Amino acid sequence: MDKLDTILQEALAAFAAVDTVALLEQAKARYLGKSGALTELLKQLGKLPAEERREAGAEINRAKDALEQALRARKDAILELELQRQLASESLDVTLPGRGHGSGGLHPATRTLERIEQLFRSIGFAVAEGPEIETDFYNFTALNTPEDHPARSMHDTFYVEGGDLLRTHTSPIQVRYMMNHQPPFKVIAPGRVYRVDSDATHSPMFHQVEGLWIDEYITFADLKGVVADFLRRFFEQDDLKVRFRPSFFPFTEPSAEIDMGCVFCGGAGCRVCSHTGWLEVGGCGMVHPNVLKHVNIDSQRYQGFAFGMGPDRLTMLRYGVNDLRLFYENDLRFLKQFN
Ligand code: DAH
Repeated sequence: MDKLDTILQEALAAFAAVDTVALLEQAKARYLGKSGALTELLKQLGKLPAEERREAGAEINRAKDALEQALRARKDAILELELQRQLASESLDVTLPGRGHGSGGLHPATRTLERIEQLFRSIGFAVAEGPEIETDFYNFTALNTPEDHPARSMHDTFYVEGGDLLRTHTSPIQVRYMMNHQPPFKVIAPGRVYRVDSDATHSPMFHQVEGLWIDEYITFADLKGVVADFLRRFFEQDDLKVRFRPSFFPFTEPSAEIDMGCVFCGGAGCRVCSHTGWLEVGGCGMVHPNVLKHVNIDSQRYQGFAFGMGPDRLTMLRYGVNDLRLFYENDLRFLKQFN
């Protein structure tokens, strides 16, 4: 019986020292199990003289009750502790800001096309489209381009099996539009075009915007007004200089190249404009009567102008980008700057 108090103190200390249910069960077995210290003590009660047995039995049972109560309390405490641990390790702060996936934006080439469409729609132009794989007829023949024209050579044109080709310009859309509509009409046609060409200022795929206005009294003065006004609005420069330099295209007569004052040097001359003060942005002219004939429009009654501009050039000038290839590499660091 001398041992009882020692066992009791040891057991209470052992229960307090563990912090998992499994360890607590082990500690319990050491004192209250089949051959636990307290159980052993109970087994020896029989050896005591009868008069002491009762008293000792009651004492051991009190100790046992005390241990069982301490066990329950410790178990509750450990379960609470384990719950807290689990909550801490699995905690989720729903008030934290999300990681964010970043927002996408339109490609600069698309932004320019949309801006061009918006500006032309505002003066009554419709927007037309056409296929990127074209026939020789729409891309060349109907546009009054002779069989032996250099543009038709394999050197400049991507041909696909069967003799069709990737359109080399948006001009075939003019032809398709005129075949399906009655004049008068004013329309632009933006799209991708393809040529065998690749360097810092040429990409094998690039964009063009075709323009066409056919009516009874459309003159070269209208052409100059529409194109110059468009460029001034596009670059938001009311005093932007625009000039029309005589040129040649099979599908227009007369024809001109469209130049605008260099937006980088203001016309003083710099590397971008090859020290000329001018930047070429497209071609234009009065639609050739032969083209109107091909699409059954009476060239005695109707006439008009057409133009073809390079929107990629306009994008480079507007955003100050000096290498066309950046537009097609899809480097997010570049593209993000346009969001
Ligand atoms: N299609 C021409 C080219 O790709 C550009 C062009 C010039 C279009 C004059 C026209 C035009 O409509 O009238 O070089």
